[in-house]
Amino acid sequence: MISRRRFLQNASTLGLGFLSAKPLFGRLLSAESPANADQTARIFLDSRRTIAVVDGYLFGSFLEHLGRAIYQGIYDPGSKLSDSNGFRKDVVDEIRKLGVPIVRYPGGNFVSGYNWLDGVGPKQERPLVLDKAWNSMNSNQFGTNEFIAWSKAVGTTPLMGLNLGTGTSEQAAALVEYCNVDKGTKWSDLRRKHGFAQPYNVKHWCLGNEMDGPWQIGHMTAPEYGLKAQDAARQMRAVDHSVELVACGSSGPQMPTYLEWDRQVLEQCYEYVDGLSLHRYFENTGDNSSKFVALNLTMDRQIGETLAVCDLVRGHKRSPKKLWLSFDEWNVWYRQRSGDAVDGHRQEAPHLLEEIYNLEDALLVGGLINTLLRNADRVRIACLAQLVNVIAPIMTNENGLFRQTIYYPYSWALQYARGRVLNVLVESPTYEVKDMDAVPYVDAVATMNPADGKTSLFLLNRDLAKAREIEVVWEDKSPSSVVAAQVLTGDDLKAVNGFDAPRRVEPRVFDKPTTANGRTRLEVPARSYTMIQWAS
Ligand code: AHR
Repeated sequence: MISRRRFLQNASTLGLGFLSAKPLFGRLLSAESPANADQTARIFLDSRRTIAVVDGYLFGSFLEHLGRAIYQGIYDPGSKLSDSNGFRKDVVDEIRKLGVPIVRYPGGNFVSGYNWLDGVGPKQERPLVLDKAWNSMNSNQFGTNEFIAWSKAVGTTPLMGLNLGTGTSEQAAALVEYCNVDKGTKWSDLRRKHGFAQPYNVKHWCLGNEMDGPWQIGHMTAPEYGLKAQDAARQMRAVDHSVELVACGSSGPQMPTYLEWDRQVLEQCYEYVDGLSLHRYFENTGDNSSKFVALNLTMDRQIGETLAVCDLVRGHKRSPKKLWLSFDEWNVWYRQRSGDAVDGHRQEAPHLLEEIYNLEDALLVGGLINTLLRNADRVRIACLAQLVNVIAPIMTNENGLFRQTIYYPYSWALQYARGRVLNVLVESPTYEVKDMDAVPYVDAVATMNPADGKTSLFLLNRDLAKAREIEVVWEDKSPSSVVAAQVLTGDDLKAVNGFDAPRRVEPRVFDKPTTANGRTRLEVPARSYTMIQWAS
C-alpha cells in the first residue's frame, strides 16, 4: 500500500532516531504539509555538514576456509589460471581492481576449531584435517603465510580471526608472536624457520567468532567468553601492545541473547578491546520484495542498539574509551543455508553456500552500503561476507570467473565513497511495510572528498513499480560537471548472472543530470540503485 505520508531522514535516523545520539531527529510529515504535497523526493546536501571520514576499512570482505572460497577460489595450484604460488591470477586481478581494503580470514565458524599450526611449515608435512564446522576436509595447503602473501598480491590488509572455541589464549598469543615479532622468541623464530624473515605486523584481530551461537564450536556463556576474551587480549598485548582487538558481539538480532550478550561480554572485557563485532544476513524467504529492499533500515537499528550497549558499559566503567564497531559479516543469504549447501560430506572444496544473487539482492546490498556509510562515525570495519564462491560477489570455475549482481553496488562503494560522509537530509514519500515504520521510497547517502572536491550520491529507489523524481538541493555550493553516473536496474527482480549469461544484470550509464540555481533534478528508475559523482 502506498502511503501519502512523507519521511524526513537525516543521515542517521531513518525513523530509528530514538537510538541515535545524532541531531536532526527523523520526522514523519503528513501529506497536508504544503511543502511536501508532491511526490518528489528531496535531498539536501551541505558539504559543511558531515558525519565522519569514510574509514579505509568500511568496505572490507571475508574469506573463510569454507566450500570453494579458498581452494578452487583464490588458491588452485593445479589450475592453468594460477601463478607459481597457486594463486588464481584472474581472481587476484579482479580483487586488486576492486580495491578491497581489508579481508577477514580464516573464519567464520571454521576458525573455532582451527589449529593455526596445522597450516604453517613445509606443505608436505601439513595434515589433512576434518573441519567440524562444515564437515569438510582441509588439506592445510593454504594457511597463515599463504594468506599474508595473497593479501600482498591483491593489495589488502589482513583481519585475522582467532580460535577462541577449542583454542586457548596462549595459542592466540602465539599466533600474534608468529606474525608480529621480529626474532628471538620461540614463535617468531619458527616463522623465520618457515622462510619468512620479515614480521607481518598484523594489526587487526577478531577474538573468536559468533561465540554466542549454540552452533559454534566451543560456544560458551557471555561471562565465560568475556573473561576468555579479556585473557586473550592481555596475553596478545603482552606480545604486541599495538594490536587492535575486536570482541564477539551478538550474531544478530534474531539471537535470544541479543544485546544482553554484548552487555555481559563488555562488562568483562571493555577495557581490553577496541571494537565489538556485529553480524547479519538478510532473507527474502516470504518473497516480499517491497519489505526485503527496506531491510537495510533494520541494520541501521541494529547498529544503533549495539552502540547503545557499548556506551552503556562505557558509562558503567566511567571509561574515556569509546568502542567502534566491526560489522564483519553482512550480506544476503537464505537460499543455500541448509542441507547439502552447508554440509561438505567430508570432501575437500565442496560446493557450499553458493548463493546465486539476483537484482533485488543487489538493491538491498546497495541499501546496506548506504546504512554503513551513514553510520561511519562508529562503524570502522565492515566485511561483505564473503568474497569468492561462498555467498560472494565473485564466482569461479576452472575456466574463469563471473561477477554476481551484488558485485556492482559493492564496487561503487569502493570506488566512489571517498572522503567525508555528508549528513544529508532526505525528504521522501513513504510506503507501508508490516512490522516496520513507514519506509521511504528513496534512501540516499552522499560523500564529499576534500582531496579532489568530488561529491558522490548513492540512491536506492525502493519503489518496485514506478520511477521516482528526485531533487538534489545544494545548500552551500553547486557542483560543476557530472563525472560518473551509473544505474543498476532491470525489469526482473529475480534476474541473475551466471557462467551462461555473465552480464545479464550489470550497471548501465545513467543520463547525466544538469544543475541549475543550486538544484539538480533527476528521475531514478523503478527498482534501482544509482550512483552519481560530480566534480566540485
Ligand atoms: O559466512 C558464513 C558463516 O556465517 C560464518 O562461518 C559464520 O560466522 C556465520 O554464521
